[in-house]
Amino acid sequence: MLDPERAHSLASFFGKVYQSTPLIPSALDSLFTVEDGALISDVFGLDFANPVGLAAGFDKNAELVDFFAHLGFGFTEVGSVTAKPWSGNKKPRMFRLPDDCAIINRMGLNNYGAQVVASNLEASERPYPVGVNITKTADNDIIGDKAIEDILFSFDILYPSADYITFNISCPNTKDGKTFEDPDSLDSLLREMRKRESIPPVLVKISSDIGHFALDGVLDVGYRGLFDGLVVANTTSKRKGLVSDPSYVEKIGVGGLSGHPIRERSSQLIRLIYSLTSGRMPVIGVGGVDSAESAYDKIKSGASLVQLYTGMIYQGPFVARDINSGLSELLEKDGFKSVSEAVGVYVR
Ligand SMILES: Cc1cc2nc3c(=O)[nH]c(=O)nc-3n(C[C@H](O)[C@H](O)[C@H](O)COP(=O)(O)O)c2cc1C
Repeated sequence: MLDPERAHSLASFFGKVYQSTPLIPSALDSLFTVEDGALISDVFGLDFANPVGLAAGFDKNAELVDFFAHLGFGFTEVGSVTAKPWSGNKKPRMFRLPDDCAIINRMGLNNYGAQVVASNLEASERPYPVGVNITKTADNDIIGDKAIEDILFSFDILYPSADYITFNISCPNTKDGKTFEDPDSLDSLLREMRKRESIPPVLVKISSDIGHFALDGVLDVGYRGLFDGLVVANTTSKRKGLVSDPSYVEKIGVGGLSGHPIRERSSQLIRLIYSLTSGRMPVIGVGGVDSAESAYDKIKSGASLVQLYTGMIYQGPFVARDINSGLSELLEKDGFKSVSEAVGVYVR
C-alpha cells in the first residue's frame, strides 16, 4: 500500500539495521541460504556460491552489500554510480503495475557519487562478489571527451573496491544515456580503462530495446577483447503487452519498464548473443526473473548468472532462497551436475 519509493527507503533502513546488528544476521543465515555444490560456478574468473544476484538500482550507494549476502544472494551489483552526486528526477518516479508484476521507473540516476560509494564499499565486508555499475553523470552538458573523463573518474575511484565493473550504456531515463551504444565511443572508453593496472572484469550492460545493428556494434567491441561479458538487459521504454489499465499506464508517463513484461525479450536477446558468440561471451541474464523456472530459462538461454530487482519487490525477501532451492531441484531433475552445464542448452 505504501508509495514504492517510500517502501524502498523503509526496506533499506531495515536492511542497514539488520546487517549492523551483531550476531543476528549470521544466526538467521540458514533461513535464507541454500548450500548446494551444483549452484557453485566460476564466471569471469570469480567464484559464485550461487548464480542469483541483486540487479543494479536497488542498492545504488553500496549501503546494503552485506545485507543481501545474508538474504541468500550469490552476488550483488551496486549502482548505477556516477562521478558527481546526483539527485535524479522529480518524485514520484517509481510506479508499480501489480497486474503485470512490473515496475516503471524514471529515477534518473540518483546516487551519492563515486567517492561516497567507494567509502561504503571499503566499510562493507563484501562476503561475495560485488559488482559496481558505473555510468555517465546525467548531465546533458557532459558529452564527447568530457563524457569519457566523467566515466574514467568513477572507474578510477571504484575499480579497486570492485570484483567486477559493469558499464551501463543503457539508462533509459536520461536524454543522452545511450551515448556509448556508439561502438567507436565505447571502444575509446574501454581502451582507456584497460590502460589501468590490475583492473577487475569489465562488463557492459545493454538495453532491452537494443536493435540488431547496435548489438552487432557492441559485440564487435567485445570481440576485440575490450570487455569481459554482458549484462542483458536493462529496462524497456516500450509498453507492449501490458494487461494494466492503459489509462493508468499513460498517466504514469515515461520511464523504464521492468519485471514480467521484459522477461521474454531479455531471454531472446540472451539466446541471440549466445548463438552469435558461440557461447564465448559470458552473460548475466536479468529481466523478469522471480522464480526458479524463470531463472532456469535465462540460464538455458545462455546466461551464466542471473539478477533480479522487480522480482524481489513482488516476491519478498525469500526470493533468492526460493530460486536457489528450486534451481537445485531442476538441475538434478535434468541430470546437470552444475549450473554451468545447463548454460545455453536451448541454443547449443
Ligand atoms: C527502480 C529501478 C531502478 C533501477 N536503477 C538502475 C540503475 O541505476 N542502473 C542499472 O543499470 N539498472 C537499473 N535498473 C534496472 C535493473 O537493474 C534491471 O536491469 C531491470 O529492472 C530488469 O530486471 P527486473 O525485471 O528483475 O527488475 C533499475 C530498475 C528499477 C526497477
